[in-house]
Amino acid sequence: MKKKHTTTDQSIQLNRRNFLSKSALLGVGMTAAPMAFANTETTASEKLTKEPSVKEGKRMLGSLEVSPIGLGCMSMKSGSYNPPLDKQEMIPVIRGAVDAGVTFFDTAEVYGPFTDEELVGEALAPVRNDVVIASKFGFDFSDGNRSGRNSRPDHIRNAVEGMLKRLRTDRIDLLYLHRLDPNVPVEEVAGVVKDLIKEGKALHFGLSEVSPVTIRKAHAEQKVAALQSEYSLIQRALENEVIDTCGELGIGFVPWGPVCRGFLGDKFNEFSRFSDDSRFVAVPYFTPEAIKAHMEVLKLVREWGRKKDATPAQISLAWLLAQKPFIVPIPGTTKLHRVKENQGALDISFTDSELKEFRTALEKIPLVGVRGPETALIDQ
Ligand SMILES: NC(=O)c1ccc[n+]([C@@H]2O[C@H](COP(=O)([O-])OP(=O)(O)OC[C@H]3O[C@@H](n4cnc5c(N)ncnc54)[C@H](OP(=O)(O)O)[C@@H]3O)[C@@H](O)[C@H]2O)c1
Repeated sequence: MKKKHTTTDQSIQLNRRNFLSKSALLGVGMTAAPMAFANTETTASEKLTKEPSVKEGKRMLGSLEVSPIGLGCMSMKSGSYNPPLDKQEMIPVIRGAVDAGVTFFDTAEVYGPFTDEELVGEALAPVRNDVVIASKFGFDFSDGNRSGRNSRPDHIRNAVEGMLKRLRTDRIDLLYLHRLDPNVPVEEVAGVVKDLIKEGKALHFGLSEVSPVTIRKAHAEQKVAALQSEYSLIQRALENEVIDTCGELGIGFVPWGPVCRGFLGDKFNEFSRFSDDSRFVAVPYFTPEAIKAHMEVLKLVREWGRKKDATPAQISLAWLLAQKPFIVPIPGTTKLHRVKENQGALDISFTDSELKEFRTALEKIPLVGVRGPETALIDQ
């Protein structure tokens, strides 16, 4: 018998009252004091990058200015965590995000595939010059499905032509390599993007889920503005090695999965189970054992939520923002009220001693099914 996927929305019950007042304060900028990861002194790389990374309530990804929290649009049309949703229902979510202060929107050719870019393009067309659109290439497709990695130069060029059409634009503000193609050296990919930047078809270059060695190789050929990889209170393998490399090179870090696919938004409970066709079934940190273990992280987050009068998602995002000034999370949601709730994280600050206290408690919690630190050195 298939088990049902059950959810609870305790975060809303917990703090429905409060997130609206926090959302109302948008625009004041990020007040959390960014600090180094562990309970250690501030690193040299952080000193180098602290100032240029935060600019009047905005954050910098390399030389690209964005809102401190972006919007991940993947689930709107890709059916990753929910069935693909109707375009007419999602356009108001994206446009509502713009009204709520979001200027940074994340999509990819592979979401759908293609349909998510079409949605983002249509939704943002009226405000195209006021927003930053990020998209990603790197896969082959056959019969409308992803069929492997492909970053051959001619394939990248074709992919970008398709993206420009679907996104209804003449330039992609941030063009990411989604996953490294083992058959194409990253320097070659960077060289193609360099040419696309010269032609004005892309403005900035990004990478996703690659190692520090690959970041350095690519950056030497074409400056990298942002690395987008998974990072949250639960998935912390990239701290130090990868994120510090970004700090050293002046590269922004864009955490995907910042609310741990909804878990840190209090969307699940320890009895949550997933049907066999759910994407969660294959995620090693969503097994029954892992969910049970990670409830301890959620309890910690709820505790901080009570102290700071904030929802769990807000605490989770504010904690990420407080780690480094060049971190710009892109929580994904299909609901406008959650976009506003997530933006409310901008009003939450942590002192250095609070961050130390938080981390000390966090590091005592055993995690299950998450990436080990050794994986930070391997291209995914
Ligand atoms: N580079 C890569 O390889 C890669 C991989 C995956 C994703 N991404 C990008 O990163 C974005 C974010 O990652 P993600 O979507 O995987 O993970 P995520 O942002 O951690 O989680 C998204 C899930 O959390 C829920 N959620 C969001 N805000 C919430 C809140 N305040 N309270 C409760 N639940 C909340 C959403 O549900 P509702 O829709 O019901 O609100 C959604 O199902 C994606 O949209 C995509 O653009 C990139």
